[in-house]
Amino acid sequence: MTTDPSKSEQLKFWRGEFGNDYTDRNTNSARELRARVALWAPIMARLEGAAPQSILEVGANIGNNLRALRQISDAEFFAIEPNGKARGVLVDDGVVPADNVHEGFAANIDLADGAVDLAFTSGVLIHIHPDDLLASCSEIYRVARRYVVCIEYFSNKAEEIGYRGHSERLFKRDFGSFWMDSFPELQILDYGFAWKRTTGLDNLTWWLMEKR
Ligand SMILES: C[S@@+](CC[C@H](N)C(=O)[O-])C[C@H]1O[C@@H](n2cnc3c(N)ncnc32)[C@H](O)[C@@H]1O
Repeated sequence: MTTDPSKSEQLKFWRGEFGNDYTDRNTNSARELRARVALWAPIMARLEGAAPQSILEVGANIGNNLRALRQISDAEFFAIEPNGKARGVLVDDGVVPADNVHEGFAANIDLADGAVDLAFTSGVLIHIHPDDLLASCSEIYRVARRYVVCIEYFSNKAEEIGYRGHSERLFKRDFGSFWMDSFPELQILDYGFAWKRTTGLDNLTWWLMEKR
């Protein structure tokens, strides 16, 4: 059982060689970015009239979501990322200003309460041990002034599945319900599904929630 999220095996995995190799493998092809723009367009459209001026991605890796968002948002970007190599790419490629790229992890975000208008994860909560999930979401909730977006793999029941030959590295569940049951002040604004067959994205379910 995990007791301290900063020492979890999952975080060690992403900070180390696996995270470095993932970062090297990750690509920001035009096709990938087009798919991400299509993913984010309905989410951002739903915020029309109150477009976020600041956006935080927790677990940004090389910033494919933020690169896509740059095409449809003029918000200031922030990133939290435990992997050093990925943080380097975010800065070197000018995706996020160096001062806004923070070493850290979801359960320990070095930003003030309500620091950003919108905070999100994409393919990150699935890699956090269930024992650390509430602490992680609590930090994301704390720094988000208005909106929380969650883009993750969905499963009706909480389950662990193998990930690239590793166990205890991927956990699926109904993350939308986890958010809403844990934080009763969250209202659901919209949700959707990016079907791999038509989008090229990895069967991602997204939820857009607002703090009321
Ligand atoms: C599968 S990648 C997803 C990257 C990006 N969000 C995307 O959608 O393309 C997972 C990323 O989350 C980071 N990560 C892993 N555990 C994390 C944690 N506890 N808090 C924040 N980021 C984490 C990893 O270093 C990696 O960059």
